This record gives sequence, structure tokens and C-alpha cells, in this order.
Amino acid sequence: MASVHPVDRIELGGIVTIRDALLAQQRQGRKVYRLESGDPSFSIPGHVAEALAKAIRDGHTHYTPGAGIPELRQALFEKLVKKNHLPLTGPDQVLVTNGAMHGLYIAYRALLDPGDEVLMPDPTWTETADNVLLAGGEVVRVPLGPQLRYQAAAMAEKITPRTKALVINSPHNPTGTVMTREELQAMVELAAQHGLWIISDEAYEDILFDGRTHLSPGSLGYERVISLYSFSKSYAMSGLRLGYVACTDPQLLERMTKLLRCTINGVNSATQHAGVAAVTGPQDHLAAMVAEYQKRRDVLWGALAHCRLLHPFKPEGAFYLWATMDAAWEGYQGQRDGWAMTRYLIDAFGVGSSPGEVFGPQGKGFIRFAFACSSEQVAGAAELLRQAFA
Ligand SMILES: Cc1ncc(COP(=O)(O)O)c(C=O)c1O
Repeated sequence: MASVHPVDRIELGGIVTIRDALLAQQRQGRKVYRLESGDPSFSIPGHVAEALAKAIRDGHTHYTPGAGIPELRQALFEKLVKKNHLPLTGPDQVLVTNGAMHGLYIAYRALLDPGDEVLMPDPTWTETADNVLLAGGEVVRVPLGPQLRYQAAAMAEKITPRTKALVINSPHNPTGTVMTREELQAMVELAAQHGLWIISDEAYEDILFDGRTHLSPGSLGYERVISLYSFSKSYAMSGLRLGYVACTDPQLLERMTKLLRCTINGVNSATQHAGVAAVTGPQDHLAAMVAEYQKRRDVLWGALAHCRLLHPFKPEGAFYLWATMDAAWEGYQGQRDGWAMTRYLIDAFGVGSSPGEVFGPQGKGFIRFAFACSSEQVAGAAELLRQAFA
């Protein structure tokens, strides 16, 4: 049998197609609502913008050490120990990446041998799975349980001699659930029993609603954890591309450092200086940002909660609302799946969304709305959705 090239195992990306369609309509003068993707509407904090400009004025426009500038690695190390309670011993255990997406790429590439299996929730953020395939691994999807909760017992049933790792993503994209301490502990215990690695994607660690707090799996006493973080959501720095990975295993750190050299040879120098200002400076923008996200959540959830044709889950964190499509929905152009609903919402109202299918087989029959776009956009879309699905 002819072998399949690893890159041909992944697709161009469903959400990107939707975004491009919306942007094309916007260019033609149509009002569109950008609820398809999770790009924060906020500007970066003022002192971060100033640090970015200053870095350029000061001539920080050259190659940097591949794993990140020392000031940033030190600042991240201190943050990870103080805020996330990770058992790190020094900044050499922190690597600066081109966003958490790139962190996932190097983490899987460093960890997996061809054919190794990685357990992950179904639904899951598309690129979490794609990066496993790119690294030659196999994706093993485990449906979330009732009320979209992670279930260690269901994961345990899927463990084979080839299982290398399991993915934890809390707050979770696409469902907006936040794992409880007990749920996290159960996952850590499962990993410990079988010697598995935990890939902990904490990109949304700061976006939590109704007073919830974030707990890092790496703080729970088990060492085999690769923790991934992003500046995209906490500091609205999505376009500046900055993330980081923490881990205590010397071999993995060495492998990931080699991958950094050969994939990016260091993140954009000015962005890294902005990152230092972001982590070491005032954090008060966070409370304001999260309060605004929570308001948007409430507006969107409020509009959909009593709809006949869509049944939303109330997001606990991140900025995604996941909703079940009611069987009574009549469909669009002869189709009744998530793609049909997404196309319908774009064609009829200019409202973007993501079909549940792009997040895995269990996403069938669901649709995801992102409320990272402006409050005005969310409010406008909420009203249109209320009308569409009343
Ligand atoms: C769960 C999850 N992890 C990681 C990322 C990647 O973030 P970054 O912009 O840092 O690459 C995203 C972005 O949407 C995400 O949803």
C-alpha cells in the first residue's frame, strides 16, 4: 500500500475557509459578524505596545537565541513558578515559541515516535490533532461525557501499548468547559498509572468566568507534563505570535531546542521584548477583559438559551459557545449538518460560526460561536441568531 505523506493527512483548515468567505463579503461592503474565529478584539495593553515600539527603536531587530531572549525566559520562569506552581528549577526549562500552536508542533515532534498514540477529547481544537499527525503520531479521540466533561475512565479504555500521551485543554476550545480539580487529578492519576505524558494546553488560562480559577495539571505532583501557554489570549497579542512551553525533561527540552533552531531560529525579536513587558508589567487589563468577555458570553447565551432550534452550553471559560443543533432544524440547501448551518448563517445573516464537525466526529450536530470579536459584533449577531432560531 502506498504510504501517505504526513502533511497530506491534514486539511487546509475548515475555519480558515469560513473566515476567508466572510472577509471576501466584507470587502464587498456587506456587514459581517466574525464569530467564526477566536481572535481577541482588544488592543494590546499600552505599556506592551510601547515596549514593542521601543524594542524597534533600540535596534532589537536581530537574531535572538533560538529558545528565547534570557530576560523573557527568566520572566516566564518566575511567572510559571509563582502563578502556575510548576515545579521548574530554572529558565532553561522554558522555551519561547511562535505562539502555542508552534509549541504544540515542537512538543509532539519531540515526544512522539512514528505510530505513537495520543488520547484527546472529542471534540478538540483542530490543530491539536493535526500537529499529532504531522509528528507521525496517531490521534485517538475520546468522547467527552455528559455535560461535556472529561472522563478519565473513558480515556483509560482507549489506552494501548502504543499510547504515549494524553491531552488536557482547560479552559477548553471548542466547548468552553473548565475542568475541576477532581477532574484534573483523575487525568493526572491515569497518566501516572500508565507512565503517559500529559500535553497541557493552557492557552486560555486567564479567560475564566463566574469567579473560576485556573489550575495547571503540571502543579499536581506528576513530572511528565509538557505545559503550553500563549500571549494571544491573555494579552490579545495573537498577531504578534508569542507562546511558550515548559517541561522538566532534559531530553525533550534538548529536542525542542533543536526544533526551535530549525523551524524559526528564535521568535520575532521585538515581540519577545513586548512579551517581557507583558509578563512583568501590570496585569489589570485582565480583569477588565474577562469582564467584557463574560458580558459577551451572557448576551450570546441569553439570546440562544430559549431558542427552539439551538441548545447552548453555558461557557465556563475561553470565548466559545458550543450549541447542539435541534433535530427540528429544517436544514439548508438540502443538508442538515453543521456545515449547512454555518453556510446558512453566512448567507442569510452574514454571521460566522464553525461547524462542530471540524472539531472531531463528536462535533457532528453542534455548532461553535466565538465571542472574541467586539461586543458590538456579538450583540448584533446575538439578535440575528435569536431571530433565526426562535
Ligand atoms: C486550544 C488552543 N490552543 C492553542 C491555541 C494557539 O494559540 P496561539 O495563537 O498562541 O498559537 C489556540 C488558538 O486558538 C487554541 O484555541
